[in-house]
Amino acid sequence: MQYRLDRLVCEVTGLSRADAKKLITKGLVKINGEIIKKADRKAEDTDDIVINGKSYTHEKYVYIMLNKPEGVVSATGDKNDVTVIDLVQDDFPRRNLFPAGRLDKTSTGFVLITDDGNFAHDILSPKHHVPKTYIVTVDNPVTDRVVKGFEEGVTLADGTLLKSATITPYDDGYTAQIILHQGVYHQIKRMLGVFDIGVNTLHRTAIGGLEMPHDLAPGEYVKLTKSQVEMIAGDLFTEN
Ligand code: URA
Repeated sequence: MQYRLDRLVCEVTGLSRADAKKLITKGLVKINGEIIKKADRKAEDTDDIVINGKSYTHEKYVYIMLNKPEGVVSATGDKNDVTVIDLVQDDFPRRNLFPAGRLDKTSTGFVLITDDGNFAHDILSPKHHVPKTYIVTVDNPVTDRVVKGFEEGVTLADGTLLKSATITPYDDGYTAQIILHQGVYHQIKRMLGVFDIGVNTLHRTAIGGLEMPHDLAPGEYVKLTKSQVEMIAGDLFTEN
């Protein structure tokens, strides 16, 4: 597939378009052994790409970690709100990106964005129990009763029995870490609601074994390396 060179550099490196352009104009990008200084030159994704002395290949699929800001919706398109895809699409123009799992509009933190449908299906499948880690702040203290209730499996107001989950309150009692092994709509808010606890803020910090770095600011995103993607999926990769 043919790309503008700056777009191709964005896709293979995960850099912003402005940074990609800078590398090109500085003469740091070689296509098939030739330095190209024009950002709008066309290149094939199968071309030999060397950036700053390092070889890159255009991958079949892309995996992006976004720190979702509050007010942004986890959807591919929306009439009224900015979506997680709006935040990243410019750097990945030809990709059919979608969020692999959702966070509520008011929640923040790690959203995985990809164009790999099979991978998304696998990590979201209830069969695989890929854990997701959150930090919540709440309006009523998290007591031992709540900790035990989460461990035993909460029954939601509509009768749904959930899998065992972990809630670990911090010393203040109003902040806690939660680890879930399934994804049900508004799950944490509904689980805490059973104990008359309201959620003030909800932030996802990790998916599987991959933690979001603390310095990834809201709205920022990074393209994941193969080993980071493997950390999300745990042993799913080695099983296949
Ligand atoms: N549980 C919720 O209630 N909201 C989220 O965004 C994620 C988990």
